[in-house]
Amino acid sequence: MIVTIDGPAGAGKSTAARQLAQRLGFEFLDTGAMYRAVTWYCCQHKIDLADPHAVADAARRMSLELVDDRVQVDGEDVSLAIRTPEVTRESRHVAGNNVVRQFLVELQRSLAAGRNVVTEGRDQGTVAFPHAECKFFLVADPRERALRRQRELEQRGQQVSLEELLQQQSHRDQRDAEREFGAMRAAEDAHVIDTSCVELEQVVAQLERLVRERIGG
Ligand code: C5P
Repeated sequence: MIVTIDGPAGAGKSTAARQLAQRLGFEFLDTGAMYRAVTWYCCQHKIDLADPHAVADAARRMSLELVDDRVQVDGEDVSLAIRTPEVTRESRHVAGNNVVRQFLVELQRSLAAGRNVVTEGRDQGTVAFPHAECKFFLVADPRERALRRQRELEQRGQQVSLEELLQQQSHRDQRDAEREFGAMRAAEDAHVIDTSCVELEQVVAQLERLVRERIGG
């Protein structure tokens, strides 16, 4: 069974998807980590991110593994290295590259084949798994999302103003939503859930209830 969770950054997807997978005894697939890993690899090997062919070649060449929540590129653990602001910023080139998108969507499908998976991203319910049994699209108020991001960065010792975060976030949202392929949008059959004023625990409980209803029904 496939459960998809899509939505913008900061809507709580990642944490909710991880916890939901744990509660259901499903595997968890972080597809944003794949785009980040390709970005990291290109930065590391000085590959011009603005050159779509070079980036696509790199994605095909590198070995990418997702093992128990760890991300490995050519055998190296890059789980932390792919979370830097530089990788976050530069990932737009990779996310906008349609050859890379097709390649990663194939990889996502092969990783999920025959398994019970909660998969999280932007295009999981629309492009990667249009026939998924249960789809969610998480949203939240922009200010609330930026505040969450600010707290997350603070925990890592980085101070960024709310204004700056709001601005970056709105650019990312726009790019995610307007991309030619794999644009971020809710599938027609997705449950749209607003996480703005809800504790994460309650969000996960709601998702679990909806999945169990689907399994039972
Ligand atoms: O979710 P996260 O911030 O880790 O995503 C990293 C990058 O990958 C972002 O640029 C996002 O737009 C992109 N992405 C994507 N499709 C997905 C998951 C993430 O284009 N399924």
